Amino acid sequence: MMRIVVIGATRGLGLKLTEKLLEYGYKVAAGATHISTELKKLQEVYNDQLLVFEADVTNEELIAEGAKKCNDFLGGIDVVCNVAGVLLDGDRINPLYQCDIMELRKTLDVNTVGPVIVVKSFYPYLKDGSNVFIVTSEGVGIGNCGEWVPCYAISKAAATKVSGILNASVKHINFYSVHPGRMDTDMGRSTAQISPEESAEGFIRLFNGQTPISRDNWYINFKGEKMEY
Ligand SMILES: NC(=O)c1ccc[n+]([C@@H]2O[C@H](COP(=O)([O-])OP(=O)(O)OC[C@H]3O[C@@H](n4cnc5c(N)ncnc54)[C@H](OP(=O)(O)O)[C@@H]3O)[C@@H](O)[C@H]2O)c1
Repeated sequence: MMRIVVIGATRGLGLKLTEKLLEYGYKVAAGATHISTELKKLQEVYNDQLLVFEADVTNEELIAEGAKKCNDFLGGIDVVCNVAGVLLDGDRINPLYQCDIMELRKTLDVNTVGPVIVVKSFYPYLKDGSNVFIVTSEGVGIGNCGEWVPCYAISKAAATKVSGILNASVKHINFYSVHPGRMDTDMGRSTAQISPEESAEGFIRLFNGQTPISRDNWYINFKGEKMEY
């Protein structure tokens, strides 16, 4: 049975993914900024199957400690999925030339530097054929420029490239950047097309090979379809 790490599990896609993986019987380590009521409930039900560990993806030391805890609990790691992400309030209304620089820094810190910290911390525990999924977004192409959520757009464009660069430099682990669909969550409430459950089911099929994927196409959506870049 696959051993899976999900980071960003308090709510939204990360929570749904954790719930569904547990329902399917997978052993899961869920990284969260705090233990939300929902995660506490899951801990009670799936005591032996679930580890909840403290995870702020901007904190390198904390994530490195978390990676060791995950490896000890799971007895090896097959999949790491970094779901953590932010879209800050000012970014929904401000054009880039009027953006709050603190918001830009925070967005880059969580959405772009965060996945690199996660990979760096988990790398020592990953083996041949392990898969790492970084949840990014759509429309990340250099030529695809609009005005909406500019800090977020910059951060996800850069984060998407993280997987390509990692695949170029590491041959024994596969890295994927994945668009999860426009989900009805706190973040996606104004543009939603699908539920986070539907996206989570898609991710599980990527994890367990039901949807075939190849590192040659490392930028995909939750259905495994190649994304344009
Ligand atoms: N929703 C969409 O339509 C959509 C579309 C494209 C891409 N995405 C991407 O999909 C992912 C999940 O989005 P969502 O819609 O589920 O968002 P969400 O409901 O806002 O949830 C975001 C999750 O990320 C966690 N997080 C934020 N900062 C973190 C940090 N520093 N360290 C660890 N965890 C952190 C949050 O934890 P807290 O509760 O502690 O804040 C929460 O669990 C994100 O990467 C997002 O950018 C979403």
